[in-house]
Amino acid sequence: MIITRLELRNFRSYPCLNLDFSEKNNILVGKNGAGKTNLVEGIYLLSLCKSWRSGDIRTLIRQGEESAFIRAYVREGEMSRKLEILITPKGKKISLNDKPVKRLSELSKLVNVTLFSPEDVNLFKGSPSSRRNFLDVSISKELTPYLSLIGRYGKILQERNMALKSPSPDKTYLEVLTNQLIDVSEPITHYRHEYLTRLNKILDGVANALYENDRSLRLIYKPFIKENDFKEMASKLYRKNLDNDLLHKMTMIGVHREDFSLLLDGNDVALYGSQGENRLAAIALKIAPYFLIEEKEKKPITILDDVYSELDDKHSLRLTKLLKNLGQVFVTTADYSIKGDAIIDVSKESATRRK
Ligand SMILES: Nc1ncnc2c1ncn2[C@@H]1O[C@H](COP(=O)(O)OP(=O)(O)OP(=O)(O)O)[C@@H](O)[C@H]1O
Ligand SMILES: [Mg+2]
Repeated sequence: MIITRLELRNFRSYPCLNLDFSEKNNILVGKNGAGKTNLVEGIYLLSLCKSWRSGDIRTLIRQGEESAFIRAYVREGEMSRKLEILITPKGKKISLNDKPVKRLSELSKLVNVTLFSPEDVNLFKGSPSSRRNFLDVSISKELTPYLSLIGRYGKILQERNMALKSPSPDKTYLEVLTNQLIDVSEPITHYRHEYLTRLNKILDGVANALYENDRSLRLIYKPFIKENDFKEMASKLYRKNLDNDLLHKMTMIGVHREDFSLLLDGNDVALYGSQGENRLAAIALKIAPYFLIEEKEKKPITILDDVYSELDDKHSLRLTKLLKNLGQVFVTTADYSIKGDAIIDVSKESATRRK
């Protein structure tokens, strides 16, 4: 899919912006604070209808205004669709070709976006929740059953935690919930395992393209149950941990606590990698799923916010070359020497396509 045109009204720093994009690499260049991230945030919103920057939707509305509006034209094959989002302090209204969209899952199918943001430099060094989130979002985009499994798991987990918090926990009820949790956990770990194995097959190729010398990248999944007899082993582990769960009044083990790490030439990048190596590793991981999706029209749009900082000239050139293999890309940078298919100059309150 490709976003051919974007219109913003009173969105963040933009009172009125109309832009036509290249279907390949769009470079948004401008000084710090110019509005580059604001612009790609507008694009990102088209996919999930929420921002990665702020949970408070009022920040999306230009200060002093009552509402913000985004309109985009999205092309998939021969078909072009008009997508609109109206943002008010009360909430968002989405419409597709002038018809209201009720389910957000419809949106992420229409506009699939992969994002690398500056915070992702700490993807491996930071808390496991952001890595799990990457995994859950990536798998959900490919496999619809996974999304509902995660949803079901969340509900059962919540119930179990409530039961653990009760002044006199009912152990029979807890056992029922534990069994339900185990039933849902088994396919989740299976999907995660399978997905990471598939990513691993692609990662080395991406690493070869990104890093200067031959380097290997390998994801290591850390499931909470390693053995084959999943149900039996999980039951044992939950039984063993029951006192601990009761003490903490919450479920301390399970797929909601799982994690993965990344080895660069056999060493954990979080523990041994430099800042630049961590950045490249995170970029590689974010880009790799693109190559897993086979149908050309379903391949995601890639947003890389401030991706070139900290990269030396050689790695920057390698990244630019790698981006040529992706479909539509949006890159923000303060470096005016970065080359692309469209160059968009961003300066306070406006953006103009130069090339
Ligand atoms: N709701 C809003 N209303 C008006 N201005 C806003 C709003 N939200 C953010 N801004 C302004 O947008 C500017 C920041 O824009 P943005 O984060 O896109 O900059 P940037 O070009 O990505 O900069 P950098 O290179 O430093 O990352 C700030 O000056 C900020 O005050
Ligand atoms: Mg920025």
